[in-house]
This record gives sequence, C-alpha cells and structure tokens, in this order.
Amino acid sequence: MKICCDLDIVKLPDELKQAVVEKALPLDIAVQLVELNNPFVNEKMVQVINRKKRYEKDILKNALAAVAKSKNMKKKLNILKKATDAGVILSSVWDFGNRDNYAGDANFHGNAPTQVVEQCILRLTSKDDLIVDPMAGSGTTIDVCKAYNRKVRAFDLTPTRKDIVENDSRCIPMDDFSADLVFLHPPYLGMVKYSKKERDVSRLSLDEFLESMRLVIMESKRILKKDKHLCILVGNVVMKGKFISLSRKLSNICEELGLEDCGHAIKITKNSVSQRRRGKAIYAELATTKNLKQNHDIMLFWRK
Ligand SMILES: C[S@@+](CC[C@H](N)C(=O)[O-])C[C@H]1O[C@@H](n2cnc3c(N)ncnc32)[C@H](O)[C@@H]1O
Repeated sequence: MKICCDLDIVKLPDELKQAVVEKALPLDIAVQLVELNNPFVNEKMVQVINRKKRYEKDILKNALAAVAKSKNMKKKLNILKKATDAGVILSSVWDFGNRDNYAGDANFHGNAPTQVVEQCILRLTSKDDLIVDPMAGSGTTIDVCKAYNRKVRAFDLTPTRKDIVENDSRCIPMDDFSADLVFLHPPYLGMVKYSKKERDVSRLSLDEFLESMRLVIMESKRILKKDKHLCILVGNVVMKGKFISLSRKLSNICEELGLEDCGHAIKITKNSVSQRRRGKAIYAELATTKNLKQNHDIMLFWRK
C-alpha cells in the first residue's frame, strides 16, 4: 500500500499503518518512522497514539457529561423559578408576621395561619389535586384550597360551617389511596377544649390523645396516594409546668407507622389568640416553672 510516492507504508507495523489511515499519525512523522526503521521507536509511537486516543475519548466523555449536567441544572433552575414565582418559601424558618385573614376564622382558638396552609399546598400539590383536612376547625384549609384551585374535603367532630362534614377522624370515610395531601392540625393539648364530646381529642389525657392521634395518622396514611404528603401542624405545650414535645411524640408515631420523614419547618407565632386573651399571665406562669413560652409551631412533613 502506498500513501504517497515517498512512503512505503508496508514497512510500518500494523498499528501504525492503521493510525496513518485513521489520520492519527501525521504523514511526515510516518515518513520519518519508515526511514528510521527502528522497532523500539515504533513501539513507543504506538503507545503515544493509544494514549492520545484514550485522552481524546475522555475529553469527549467529560464534555458530554458537562452538557448533560447543565441541561439537568437548567431543568432544576426552572423548577426553582416556578416555586419562587408561586411564593414558595424554600427554607425552614417561616416568619409571616400577621395571619392573612381571608381564610378560616381569625377568632377561632387554635386556627391555622393561612400562610402555613398555602406553603404546604403550593409546594407539595398541583392544581386540581385533592387535599383532605381531618380536623378542619374554622375551615382555613378549605378557603386556601379554593383560592388556589385545589379540591378539598374537610372533616371535624364539631363542624363550624356547612362545608365541613361531621366526623370522628379516627376513622376517615374515604377510599384508600385517594388523597394528594393531608393537612392535619390537631388541638393544642391542654389549651382549649373544643366540645364536650367524649370523642373530642382535645379533652383527653396525654396518653389517650396520642393513642387517638395514632389512629388519625393511620387513617391519613391509608387515604393518601403513594409518595404523597401528610403535613402536621403542631405546637409543643407546657402542661402543669412540664414541657411536652408533641412534635416529637407525633413524629415517633409517624415513623412507627412507616411514613418517611421529610423534615419540618418552624413557624414563628405572633399575636396568637391565646396570647391576645391571656397576655402577661402566660409568661408569669412559665417564668415560675422555669419554662419557655412556645413562640413557634412546628410543621412536620411526612411522605407515604
Ligand atoms: C387546632 S383545631 C384545627 C384548626 C383549623 N386548622 C383552623 O384553621 O381553624 C383542631 C380541631 O380538631 C377537632 N377535633 C377534635 N377531636 C376530633 C376528632 N376526634 N375528630 C375530628 N376532629 C376533631 C376540633 O373540633 C378542632 O376543630
């Protein structure tokens, strides 16, 4: 085989011949190799060419990986933009200032801050998803869902309005795998009794309360679709001078029931109904028992 008139390529070893054909070995160097006719030099040249091929392949591989990574990052940045445009807070301390009073009843003792419900549904659900509130109180969840085009079903042992169905939520009258999110806001134990009904969990002792909440959480898990979230808004309490971490106790139940921990947010409480009603008396009691005023609620996130 003649590459050019001056080069008798037959004199080259096979790998180098191949390199000339593939243009990995420049013609002028091939000419010199033929002239030298030295097996040691040829061997070295084969090594150099192979190393170069490997290097070029690596560069190509890295370049392709970088393109894929930046495409992926672009996708993630789009998701971030959508979330922040919708007003989603992506950090774990929520300080909203005053409650936005378009939803629920501003004077209902233990109402959920409107903005907390908004954060849950904006971050974790989409338009037309079905949200369930098993302890709906004054109906904050219902009004937020309507404002953001979500479907909603609300239950309470003592309904305060027509769109809340009377129900003891230790058993929820819904099919398995039917809800896209459950927003659960149990009573602040020891702070307010919502009714005289025996099944009202706000009337129970701590142990009975936890046993009942286990059933409500179990039911919430049952009605949730796979991978969907249970959001529990809970305040820790001081009862008879003793601090009780309801958030930890309810989290333990969620974990035991096989839900996946998705973290929590701290919601700073300002100007709560109890604060407005009892003012300094609360602080006086807590100062006496060397406890702290719980000026935050905890928003727990669990996934089925
Ligand atoms: C903290 S409030 C919920 C407040 C509500 N998120 C709002 O924004 O107005 C707790 C509610 O749990 C309800 N409740 C107590 N025991 C219940 C039970 N066994 N089943 C269903 N609801 C119950 C109470 O009637 C009360 O309305």
